[in-house]
Amino acid sequence: MTRQLHLNLFVYPGGHHEAAWRYRESAPERVLDLSYYVELARAAEAATFDGLFLADGPSLADNIAYATRFRLEPFTLLSALAASTTHLGLIGTASTTYSEPYNLARQFAGLDHVSAGRAGWNIVTTGAPGAAQNFGLDEHPTHADRYERADEFLDVVTALWDSWEDDAVVGDRLTGQYADTDRIHRIDHVGPHFSVRGPLNTPRTPQGRPVYVQAGTSPAGRAFASRWADAVFAAHQTLEEAQAYYADLRAQAAGHGRDPDRVLVLPGISPYLGSTDAEAKALQRDLDELTQPAYSIDLLRRLVGVELTEAELDDPFPVEAIQVEGDRAESSRFQLVRDLAERERPTSRQLLHRLAGARGHKLVAGTPEQVADVIETWFTRGAADGFNIMPPYLTGGFTDFAEQVVPILRDRGLFRREYTGTTLREHYGLARPASRFSQGVLV
Ligand SMILES: Cc1cc2nc3c(=O)[nH]c(=O)nc-3n(C[C@H](O)[C@H](O)[C@H](O)COP(=O)(O)O)c2cc1C
Repeated sequence: MTRQLHLNLFVYPGGHHEAAWRYRESAPERVLDLSYYVELARAAEAATFDGLFLADGPSLADNIAYATRFRLEPFTLLSALAASTTHLGLIGTASTTYSEPYNLARQFAGLDHVSAGRAGWNIVTTGAPGAAQNFGLDEHPTHADRYERADEFLDVVTALWDSWEDDAVVGDRLTGQYADTDRIHRIDHVGPHFSVRGPLNTPRTPQGRPVYVQAGTSPAGRAFASRWADAVFAAHQTLEEAQAYYADLRAQAAGHGRDPDRVLVLPGISPYLGSTDAEAKALQRDLDELTQPAYSIDLLRRLVGVELTEAELDDPFPVEAIQVEGDRAESSRFQLVRDLAERERPTSRQLLHRLAGARGHKLVAGTPEQVADVIETWFTRGAADGFNIMPPYLTGGFTDFAEQVVPILRDRGLFRREYTGTTLREHYGLARPASRFSQGVLV
Protein backbone atom coordinates (compact mmCIF):
# COMPACT_ATOMS: atom_id res chain seq x y z
CA MET A 1 0.00 0.00 0.00
CA THR A 2 1.51 3.33 -1.03
CA ARG A 3 1.97 5.84 1.75
CA GLN A 4 -1.23 7.86 2.18
CA LEU A 5 -1.89 11.29 3.64
CA HIS A 6 -3.63 11.68 7.01
CA LEU A 7 -5.99 14.65 7.25
CA ASN A 8 -7.78 16.08 10.28
CA LEU A 9 -10.28 18.92 10.34
CA PHE A 10 -9.15 21.35 13.08
CA VAL A 11 -12.33 23.13 14.15
CA TYR A 12 -12.30 26.60 15.67
CA PRO A 13 -15.77 28.21 16.11
CA GLY A 14 -16.18 30.57 13.13
CA GLY A 15 -12.88 29.57 11.56
CA HIS A 16 -9.15 29.99 12.22
CA HIS A 17 -8.74 33.52 10.99
CA GLU A 18 -9.09 35.70 14.08
CA ALA A 19 -11.71 37.85 12.29
CA ALA A 20 -13.50 34.91 10.64
CA TRP A 21 -16.80 35.48 12.48
CA ARG A 22 -17.06 38.97 10.92
CA TYR A 23 -16.68 37.61 7.37
CA ARG A 24 -19.89 37.80 5.28
CA GLU A 25 -19.75 34.05 4.46
CA SER A 26 -19.47 33.00 8.13
CA ALA A 27 -22.38 32.01 10.40
CA PRO A 28 -21.47 33.41 13.85
CA GLU A 29 -25.06 32.95 15.03
CA ARG A 30 -24.64 29.15 14.71
CA VAL A 31 -21.37 28.60 16.65
CA LEU A 32 -23.20 27.43 19.80
CA ASP A 33 -25.48 25.14 17.81
CA LEU A 34 -24.77 21.39 17.76
CA SER A 35 -26.04 21.28 14.16
CA TYR A 36 -23.10 23.50 13.08
CA TYR A 37 -20.56 20.95 14.31
CA VAL A 38 -22.59 17.94 13.10
CA GLU A 39 -22.61 19.51 9.62
CA LEU A 40 -18.81 19.96 9.73
CA ALA A 41 -18.22 16.44 11.10
CA ARG A 42 -20.39 14.88 8.41
CA ALA A 43 -18.61 16.91 5.71
CA ALA A 44 -15.24 15.72 7.04
CA GLU A 45 -16.45 12.10 7.12
CA ALA A 46 -17.85 12.38 3.58
CA ALA A 47 -14.36 13.55 2.56
CA THR A 48 -12.91 10.44 4.35
CA PHE A 49 -10.91 12.56 6.78
CA ASP A 50 -9.05 10.70 9.55
CA GLY A 51 -10.36 12.89 12.32
CA LEU A 52 -11.91 16.05 13.68
CA PHE A 53 -9.84 17.92 16.26
CA LEU A 54 -10.95 20.27 19.02
CA ALA A 55 -8.50 22.49 20.88
CA ASP A 56 -9.22 23.47 24.48
CA GLY A 57 -7.99 25.31 27.55
CA PRO A 58 -9.49 25.59 31.05
CA SER A 59 -9.63 29.39 31.08
CA LEU A 60 -11.27 32.16 29.08
CA ALA A 61 -9.06 33.51 26.27
CA ASP A 62 -8.30 37.16 26.95
CA ASN A 63 -9.31 38.24 23.46
CA ILE A 64 -12.94 37.10 23.70
CA ALA A 65 -13.99 40.75 23.22
CA TYR A 66 -12.91 40.53 19.59
CA ALA A 67 -13.42 36.94 18.49
CA THR A 68 -15.38 33.69 18.94
CA ARG A 69 -12.65 32.33 21.21
CA PHE A 70 -14.91 30.53 23.68
CA ARG A 71 -14.70 26.76 24.19
CA LEU A 72 -17.34 24.09 24.07
CA GLU A 73 -16.11 21.34 26.39
CA PRO A 74 -14.57 18.67 24.12
CA PHE A 75 -15.99 15.46 25.68
CA THR A 76 -19.50 16.87 25.57
CA LEU A 77 -19.25 17.95 21.93
CA LEU A 78 -17.29 14.93 20.67
CA SER A 79 -19.71 12.48 22.31
CA ALA A 80 -22.57 14.21 20.50
CA LEU A 81 -20.62 13.99 17.22
CA ALA A 82 -19.99 10.29 17.90
CA ALA A 83 -23.72 9.77 17.57
CA SER A 84 -23.84 11.57 14.18
CA THR A 85 -20.86 9.87 12.53
CA THR A 86 -19.51 6.34 12.08
CA HIS A 87 -15.86 6.54 10.96
CA LEU A 88 -14.51 10.01 11.75
CA GLY A 89 -11.86 10.10 14.47
CA LEU A 90 -12.76 12.37 17.42
CA ILE A 91 -9.71 14.11 18.89
CA GLY A 92 -10.16 16.23 22.00
CA THR A 93 -7.71 18.30 23.98
CA ALA A 94 -7.25 17.81 27.71
CA SER A 95 -4.67 19.17 30.11
CA THR A 96 -2.30 17.10 32.24
CA THR A 97 -1.73 20.16 34.46
CA TYR A 98 -5.38 20.87 35.28
CA SER A 99 -6.92 17.39 35.28
CA GLU A 100 -6.83 14.33 37.53
CA PRO A 101 -5.68 11.08 35.88
CA TYR A 102 -8.53 8.85 37.13
CA ASN A 103 -11.25 11.24 35.91
CA LEU A 104 -9.59 11.80 32.53
CA ALA A 105 -9.07 8.06 32.05
CA ARG A 106 -12.79 7.53 32.58
CA GLN A 107 -13.76 10.34 30.20
CA PHE A 108 -11.63 9.04 27.32
CA ALA A 109 -12.67 5.43 28.00
CA GLY A 110 -16.25 6.61 27.75
CA LEU A 111 -15.64 8.47 24.48
CA ASP A 112 -13.80 5.49 22.97
CA HIS A 113 -16.66 3.15 23.89
CA VAL A 114 -19.51 5.42 22.68
CA SER A 115 -17.65 6.10 19.40
CA ALA A 116 -16.72 2.42 18.86
CA GLY A 117 -12.99 3.20 18.92
CA ARG A 118 -12.54 6.70 17.49
CA ALA A 119 -11.14 8.67 20.46
CA GLY A 120 -7.91 10.67 20.29
CA TRP A 121 -6.33 12.78 23.05
CA ASN A 122 -4.43 15.99 22.28
CA ILE A 123 -2.21 16.00 25.36
CA VAL A 124 -1.36 19.53 26.47
CA THR A 125 0.25 20.92 29.60
CA THR A 126 -1.71 24.19 29.14
CA GLY A 127 0.41 27.15 28.11
CA ALA A 128 -2.08 29.80 29.24
CA PRO A 129 -1.01 31.03 32.72
CA GLY A 130 -4.53 32.32 33.45
CA ALA A 131 -5.78 28.79 34.14
CA ALA A 132 -3.98 28.56 37.50
CA GLN A 133 -6.45 30.76 39.35
CA ASN A 134 -9.34 28.55 38.20
CA PHE A 135 -7.80 25.63 40.08
CA GLY A 136 -6.85 27.27 43.39
CA LEU A 137 -3.25 27.99 42.38
CA ASP A 138 -1.55 31.37 42.74
CA GLU A 139 1.14 30.54 40.22
CA HIS A 140 0.98 28.68 36.89
CA PRO A 141 3.49 25.80 37.16
CA THR A 142 6.68 26.30 35.17
CA HIS A 143 7.15 24.77 31.72
CA ALA A 144 9.58 22.16 33.14
CA ASP A 145 7.30 21.26 36.07
CA ARG A 146 4.33 20.92 33.73
CA TYR A 147 6.17 18.43 31.54
CA GLU A 148 7.49 16.49 34.54
CA ARG A 149 3.92 16.11 35.83
CA ALA A 150 2.70 15.22 32.31
CA ASP A 151 5.13 12.30 32.09
CA GLU A 152 3.86 10.77 35.34
CA PHE A 153 0.27 11.54 34.32
CA LEU A 154 0.73 9.44 31.16
CA ASP A 155 2.26 6.60 33.18
CA VAL A 156 -0.86 6.56 35.38
CA VAL A 157 -3.57 6.81 32.72
CA THR A 158 -1.83 4.28 30.45
CA ALA A 159 -1.75 1.82 33.36
CA LEU A 160 -5.43 2.53 34.13
CA TRP A 161 -6.42 1.83 30.50
CA ASP A 162 -4.50 -1.44 30.78
CA SER A 163 -6.13 -2.37 34.10
CA TRP A 164 -8.86 -4.41 32.44
CA GLU A 165 -7.61 -7.22 30.22
CA ASP A 166 -9.46 -7.62 26.92
CA ASP A 167 -11.32 -10.72 28.04
CA ALA A 168 -12.13 -9.54 31.57
CA VAL A 169 -15.78 -9.15 30.66
CA VAL A 170 -17.26 -12.65 30.71
CA GLY A 171 -20.99 -11.84 30.58
CA ASP A 172 -22.06 -15.42 31.29
CA ARG A 173 -25.78 -15.33 32.05
CA LEU A 174 -25.80 -19.01 32.91
CA THR A 175 -23.15 -18.81 35.62
CA GLY A 176 -24.06 -15.22 36.49
CA GLN A 177 -20.46 -14.09 36.13
CA TYR A 178 -20.25 -10.72 34.45
CA ALA A 179 -16.53 -10.04 34.85
CA ASP A 180 -13.45 -12.11 35.67
CA THR A 181 -11.88 -10.10 38.45
CA ASP A 182 -8.60 -12.00 38.02
CA ARG A 183 -8.33 -10.04 34.81
CA ILE A 184 -8.98 -6.65 36.38
CA HIS A 185 -5.95 -5.18 38.09
CA ARG A 186 -5.00 -2.51 40.61
CA ILE A 187 -2.17 -0.29 39.40
CA ASP A 188 -1.03 0.90 42.88
CA HIS A 189 0.78 3.91 41.43
CA VAL A 190 2.63 6.12 43.93
CA GLY A 191 4.72 8.96 42.52
CA PRO A 192 5.78 12.60 43.15
CA HIS A 193 2.48 13.96 41.80
CA PHE A 194 -0.05 11.14 41.96
CA SER A 195 -1.11 8.21 44.10
CA VAL A 196 -3.68 6.09 42.23
CA ARG A 197 -4.73 2.57 43.24
CA GLY A 198 -7.10 1.66 40.38
CA PRO A 199 -8.43 -0.37 38.60
CA LEU A 200 -10.42 1.81 36.22
CA ASN A 201 -14.18 1.30 36.57
CA THR A 202 -14.75 0.95 32.81
CA PRO A 203 -13.93 -2.14 30.71
CA ARG A 204 -11.03 -1.98 28.26
CA THR A 205 -11.88 0.23 25.30
CA PRO A 206 -12.15 -0.72 21.58
CA GLN A 207 -8.77 0.92 20.85
CA GLY A 208 -7.19 -0.21 24.16
CA ARG A 209 -6.58 3.46 24.85
CA PRO A 210 -7.17 6.72 22.94
CA VAL A 211 -4.68 7.69 20.24
CA TYR A 212 -2.05 9.92 21.88
CA VAL A 213 -1.56 13.25 20.16
CA GLN A 214 0.80 15.96 21.31
CA ALA A 215 1.47 19.50 20.13
CA GLY A 216 4.60 20.87 21.71
CA THR A 217 7.80 21.64 19.78
CA SER A 218 10.08 22.96 22.53
CA PRO A 219 12.91 20.62 23.63
CA ALA A 220 10.73 19.36 26.52
CA GLY A 221 7.75 19.08 24.17
CA ARG A 222 9.73 17.02 21.65
CA ALA A 223 11.16 14.74 24.32
CA PHE A 224 7.62 14.12 25.60
CA ALA A 225 6.26 13.52 22.09
CA SER A 226 9.02 11.10 21.16
CA ARG A 227 8.23 8.98 24.22
CA TRP A 228 4.41 9.05 24.12
CA ALA A 229 2.85 10.47 20.96
CA ASP A 230 1.23 8.42 18.18
CA ALA A 231 0.70 11.66 16.28
CA VAL A 232 2.19 15.12 16.67
CA PHE A 233 0.55 18.37 15.64
CA ALA A 234 3.00 21.14 14.82
CA ALA A 235 3.17 24.66 13.43
CA HIS A 236 5.76 25.47 10.74
CA GLN A 237 6.13 28.27 8.23
CA THR A 238 8.70 26.80 5.87
CA LEU A 239 9.42 23.41 4.30
CA GLU A 240 12.93 23.46 5.77
CA GLU A 241 11.67 24.08 9.34
CA ALA A 242 9.15 21.26 8.94
CA GLN A 243 11.77 18.85 7.50
CA ALA A 244 14.17 19.56 10.37
CA TYR A 245 11.44 18.99 12.95
CA TYR A 246 10.22 15.82 11.21
CA ALA A 247 13.71 14.29 11.14
CA ASP A 248 14.49 15.27 14.74
CA LEU A 249 11.27 13.88 16.15
CA ARG A 250 11.63 10.57 14.33
CA ALA A 251 15.24 10.28 15.51
CA GLN A 252 14.19 10.92 19.12
CA ALA A 253 11.39 8.33 18.84
CA ALA A 254 13.89 5.78 17.49
CA GLY A 255 16.04 6.68 20.48
CA HIS A 256 13.21 5.35 22.66
CA GLY A 257 13.21 2.11 20.65
CA ARG A 258 10.04 3.14 18.83
CA ASP A 259 9.33 2.68 15.09
CA PRO A 260 9.55 6.23 13.67
CA ASP A 261 6.91 5.35 11.06
CA ARG A 262 4.47 4.91 13.93
CA VAL A 263 4.83 8.54 15.04
CA LEU A 264 2.85 10.65 12.57
CA VAL A 265 3.69 14.33 12.13
CA LEU A 266 0.82 16.59 11.08
CA PRO A 267 1.58 20.29 10.69
CA GLY A 268 -1.28 22.77 10.49
CA ILE A 269 -2.18 24.31 7.11
CA SER A 270 -4.75 27.05 6.53
CA PRO A 271 -5.97 27.02 2.89
CA TYR A 272 -7.38 30.18 1.29
CA LEU A 273 -8.98 28.93 -1.91
CA GLY A 274 -9.94 30.75 -5.11
CA SER A 275 -10.57 29.78 -8.72
CA THR A 276 -7.58 32.00 -9.50
CA ASP A 277 -4.53 32.98 -7.47
CA ALA A 278 -5.80 36.57 -7.35
CA GLU A 279 -9.19 35.46 -6.03
CA ALA A 280 -7.52 33.47 -3.26
CA LYS A 281 -5.34 36.45 -2.30
CA ALA A 282 -8.45 38.62 -2.28
CA LEU A 283 -10.10 36.24 0.23
CA GLN A 284 -7.04 36.53 2.47
CA ARG A 285 -7.07 40.32 2.14
CA ASP A 286 -10.80 40.53 2.90
CA LEU A 287 -10.31 38.59 6.13
CA ASP A 288 -7.15 40.46 7.12
CA GLU A 289 -8.94 43.78 6.68
CA LEU A 290 -11.48 42.66 9.27
CA THR A 291 -8.80 42.23 11.92
CA GLN A 292 -8.92 44.62 14.83
CA PRO A 293 -5.47 46.05 15.64
CA ALA A 294 -6.26 46.08 19.38
CA TYR A 295 -6.66 42.28 19.34
CA SER A 296 -3.53 41.67 17.26
CA ILE A 297 -1.43 44.07 19.29
CA ASP A 298 -2.53 42.19 22.40
CA LEU A 299 -1.54 38.84 20.81
CA LEU A 300 1.97 40.13 20.04
CA ARG A 301 2.39 41.50 23.57
CA ARG A 302 1.51 38.07 24.99
CA LEU A 303 3.62 36.08 22.51
CA VAL A 304 6.86 38.12 22.34
CA GLY A 305 6.43 40.94 24.88
CA VAL A 306 6.50 43.75 22.27
CA GLU A 307 4.25 46.74 23.03
CA LEU A 308 2.99 48.44 19.83
CA THR A 309 0.59 51.30 19.14
CA GLU A 310 -1.75 51.37 16.17
CA ALA A 311 0.22 54.27 14.71
CA GLU A 312 3.33 52.09 14.48
CA LEU A 313 1.70 49.21 12.59
CA ASP A 314 2.99 50.15 9.13
CA ASP A 315 6.57 50.57 10.39
CA PRO A 316 9.04 47.66 10.21
CA PHE A 317 8.41 45.27 13.13
CA PRO A 318 10.98 46.06 15.90
CA VAL A 319 12.67 42.63 16.15
CA GLU A 320 15.19 44.03 18.64
CA ALA A 321 12.32 44.81 21.05
CA ILE A 322 11.39 41.13 21.50
CA GLN A 323 11.50 40.19 25.23
CA VAL A 324 13.38 36.91 25.80
CA GLU A 325 12.60 36.51 29.51
CA GLY A 326 11.16 33.64 31.60
CA ASP A 327 8.87 30.87 30.37
CA ARG A 328 7.87 32.81 27.25
CA ALA A 329 11.11 32.05 25.39
CA GLU A 330 10.75 28.32 26.03
CA SER A 331 7.54 28.13 24.06
CA SER A 332 7.68 27.01 20.44
CA ARG A 333 5.20 29.74 19.54
CA PHE A 334 7.69 32.39 20.66
CA GLN A 335 10.41 30.87 18.47
CA LEU A 336 8.07 30.76 15.51
CA VAL A 337 7.20 34.49 15.69
CA ARG A 338 10.81 35.53 16.24
CA ASP A 339 12.06 33.40 13.33
CA LEU A 340 9.31 34.74 11.04
CA ALA A 341 10.10 38.37 11.99
CA GLU A 342 13.87 37.90 11.57
CA ARG A 343 13.51 35.97 8.31
CA GLU A 344 10.99 38.19 6.53
CA ARG A 345 11.47 41.61 8.20
CA PRO A 346 7.76 42.45 7.80
CA THR A 347 5.95 45.59 8.93
CA SER A 348 4.09 45.05 12.18
CA ARG A 349 0.79 44.96 10.27
CA GLN A 350 2.13 42.31 7.85
CA LEU A 351 3.34 40.22 10.82
CA LEU A 352 -0.01 40.60 12.56
CA HIS A 353 -1.84 39.50 9.42
CA ARG A 354 0.40 36.40 9.24
CA LEU A 355 -0.50 35.56 12.84
CA ALA A 356 -4.17 36.56 12.35
CA GLY A 357 -4.64 33.86 9.76
CA ALA A 358 -3.74 30.81 11.80
CA ARG A 359 -1.59 31.78 14.82
CA GLY A 360 1.71 30.93 13.13
CA HIS A 361 0.63 27.84 11.20
CA LYS A 362 1.28 27.60 7.46
CA LEU A 363 -1.03 29.78 5.33
CA VAL A 364 -1.52 28.89 1.64
CA ALA A 365 -3.59 31.14 -0.61
CA GLY A 366 -4.09 29.77 -4.11
CA THR A 367 -6.09 27.63 -6.49
CA PRO A 368 -7.03 24.07 -5.46
CA GLU A 369 -4.15 22.81 -7.61
CA GLN A 370 -1.66 25.15 -5.91
CA VAL A 371 -2.83 24.12 -2.43
CA ALA A 372 -2.60 20.43 -3.42
CA ASP A 373 0.95 21.09 -4.70
CA VAL A 374 2.08 22.45 -1.31
CA ILE A 375 0.48 19.50 0.50
CA GLU A 376 2.10 17.01 -1.89
CA THR A 377 5.53 18.66 -1.57
CA TRP A 378 5.57 18.60 2.25
CA PHE A 379 4.23 15.02 2.24
CA THR A 380 6.72 13.64 -0.29
CA ARG A 381 9.77 15.59 0.88
CA GLY A 382 10.00 14.41 4.50
CA ALA A 383 8.13 17.22 6.23
CA ALA A 384 4.76 15.70 7.07
CA ASP A 385 2.65 12.52 7.19
CA GLY A 386 -0.49 14.59 6.83
CA PHE A 387 -2.08 17.85 7.96
CA ASN A 388 -4.44 19.53 10.33
CA ILE A 389 -6.66 21.44 7.90
CA MET A 390 -7.49 24.83 9.44
CA PRO A 391 -10.21 26.54 7.36
CA PRO A 392 -9.90 30.34 7.63
CA TYR A 393 -13.70 30.66 7.97
CA LEU A 394 -16.51 28.14 8.43
CA THR A 395 -18.32 26.35 7.12
CA GLY A 396 -17.62 27.31 3.46
CA GLY A 397 -13.84 27.45 3.97
CA PHE A 398 -13.93 23.71 4.74
CA THR A 399 -16.54 22.49 2.25
CA ASP A 400 -14.56 24.24 -0.53
CA PHE A 401 -11.44 22.31 0.52
CA ALA A 402 -13.34 19.01 0.72
CA GLU A 403 -15.00 19.52 -2.68
CA GLN A 404 -12.07 21.06 -4.57
CA VAL A 405 -8.75 19.89 -3.08
CA VAL A 406 -9.56 16.37 -1.78
CA PRO A 407 -10.50 15.08 -5.29
CA ILE A 408 -7.13 16.31 -6.60
CA LEU A 409 -5.26 14.56 -3.76
CA ARG A 410 -7.19 11.35 -4.53
CA ASP A 411 -6.48 11.60 -8.27
CA ARG A 412 -2.77 11.92 -7.42
CA GLY A 413 -3.04 8.71 -5.36
CA LEU A 414 -2.15 10.57 -2.16
CA PHE A 415 -5.39 10.19 -0.16
CA ARG A 416 -7.94 7.47 0.49
CA ARG A 417 -11.18 7.33 -1.55
CA GLU A 418 -12.91 5.30 1.17
CA TYR A 419 -12.25 4.19 4.72
CA THR A 420 -10.61 0.76 5.10
CA GLY A 421 -11.16 0.66 8.87
CA THR A 422 -13.52 2.05 11.50
CA THR A 423 -11.23 3.17 14.36
CA LEU A 424 -8.89 6.17 14.51
CA ARG A 425 -5.98 3.77 15.08
CA GLU A 426 -6.85 1.97 11.83
CA HIS A 427 -7.06 5.27 9.95
CA TYR A 428 -3.61 6.22 11.29
CA GLY A 429 -2.21 2.74 10.60
CA LEU A 430 -1.45 2.18 14.29
CA ALA A 431 -1.54 -1.18 16.05
CA ARG A 432 -3.91 -1.72 18.99
CA PRO A 433 -1.76 -1.94 22.14
CA ALA A 434 -2.18 -5.06 24.30
CA SER A 435 -2.78 -4.64 28.03
CA ARG A 436 0.52 -5.00 29.94
CA PHE A 437 -1.38 -7.39 32.29
CA SER A 438 -2.45 -9.62 29.42
CA GLN A 439 1.17 -10.20 28.53
CA GLY A 440 1.78 -11.26 32.13
CA VAL A 441 4.01 -8.23 32.69
CA LEU A 442 3.14 -6.80 36.13
CA VAL A 443 3.61 -3.03 36.80
C1 LIG B 1 -1.81 22.28 16.34
C2 LIG B 1 -1.65 22.73 17.78
C3 LIG B 1 -2.75 22.66 18.61
C4 LIG B 1 -2.63 23.06 19.95
N1 LIG B 1 -3.72 22.97 20.75
C5 LIG B 1 -3.63 23.38 22.03
C6 LIG B 1 -4.77 23.34 22.87
O1 LIG B 1 -5.84 22.93 22.46
N2 LIG B 1 -4.64 23.75 24.15
C7 LIG B 1 -3.45 24.19 24.66
O2 LIG B 1 -3.39 24.53 25.85
N3 LIG B 1 -2.34 24.26 23.88
C8 LIG B 1 -2.43 23.87 22.59
N4 LIG B 1 -1.33 23.94 21.78
C9 LIG B 1 -0.08 24.44 22.36
C10 LIG B 1 0.83 23.28 22.71
O3 LIG B 1 0.23 22.35 23.53
C11 LIG B 1 2.08 23.80 23.37
O4 LIG B 1 1.80 24.40 24.60
C12 LIG B 1 2.76 24.80 22.51
O5 LIG B 1 2.89 24.26 21.19
C13 LIG B 1 4.09 25.13 23.09
O6 LIG B 1 4.91 23.99 22.96
P1 LIG B 1 5.73 23.47 24.17
O7 LIG B 1 4.74 22.87 25.09
O8 LIG B 1 6.65 22.45 23.60
O9 LIG B 1 6.44 24.64 24.74
C14 LIG B 1 -1.40 23.56 20.44
C15 LIG B 1 -0.29 23.65 19.60
C16 LIG B 1 -0.40 23.23 18.27
C17 LIG B 1 0.81 23.29 17.39
